[in-house]
Amino acid sequence: MNYDQYYNLCKAAYTKDVDPSEIQKFYTEPVKVYDHKFYGDEYNSLVRELSDCITSDFDNKLDCDDDGIMMKHNNIWKFHKQISSLCNIIVPYMEENRYGCHLYVDKIYIYRTLKLESRVSSYEWHYDNNPDEIVKTLIYLNDVNEKNSPYEFLKNTVSDQGILGQCTRKGTECWYPAPNNSRVGHLIEGLEKQGCVPQKVVGPMGTAVSFINNSVHRANPIIEGYRDVINIRVKPTMQPAPEYTNPMYTTSYEHSGVVNQNPVPAWKSKI
Ligand SMILES: [Fe+2]
Repeated sequence: MNYDQYYNLCKAAYTKDVDPSEIQKFYTEPVKVYDHKFYGDEYNSLVRELSDCITSDFDNKLDCDDDGIMMKHNNIWKFHKQISSLCNIIVPYMEENRYGCHLYVDKIYIYRTLKLESRVSSYEWHYDNNPDEIVKTLIYLNDVNEKNSPYEFLKNTVSDQGILGQCTRKGTECWYPAPNNSRVGHLIEGLEKQGCVPQKVVGPMGTAVSFINNSVHRANPIIEGYRDVINIRVKPTMQPAPEYTNPMYTTSYEHSGVVNQNPVPAWKSKI
């Protein structure tokens, strides 16, 4: 089964009231930016708490790996309480206002972007090439301006919405490598001529950008300062998980970023 079919089953199985006109925009409004006040006070105090812990770990090179591209946190569950509380705020919002189905968190990354000589990896224009039904929410853990590595996405000026790359991993019925390993830097000039523009997301700590993983996007290398984020990735599930996030089914850098080809096991499988 492909993820789009599974998502339809999940929506049919979901009994909470939703606004169908909002849910219909799932694919056509793939990138949503939320300002730091959007999720309220509890969210902001959790972000601040997490930010304090993570700044200290990265500054002291504690529980992290630096591969010269990003500084990656390798012990995210020491923040289990804050992570769970944060997910308990943002995931229900996505269930009710975006997906219209149950969700669980399958992946969390906490990282700091770095200064680079040249753009590589996620600093190049790309899409992730997991199925379109996978959404990542990136929460800034410090204030981000033009100089400290804003997230950037490509936007269509007519629709004023993000644009999606050509996904080639859709599920068990369609799964093959993306052209050019889903790097699209060579297509940007043409897309700009067709009316697309790059948009950087800047804002204070707590600013969040929530995007279908196939939105065309990139990170920017640091010019000055640093940028810490927590990246929370969700997947549809027919049956609600015992909790939104749990080390039993939420992984980090220790597992590949590629989702299970089969959407059906959902949180009952580690990948
Ligand atoms: Fe990416």
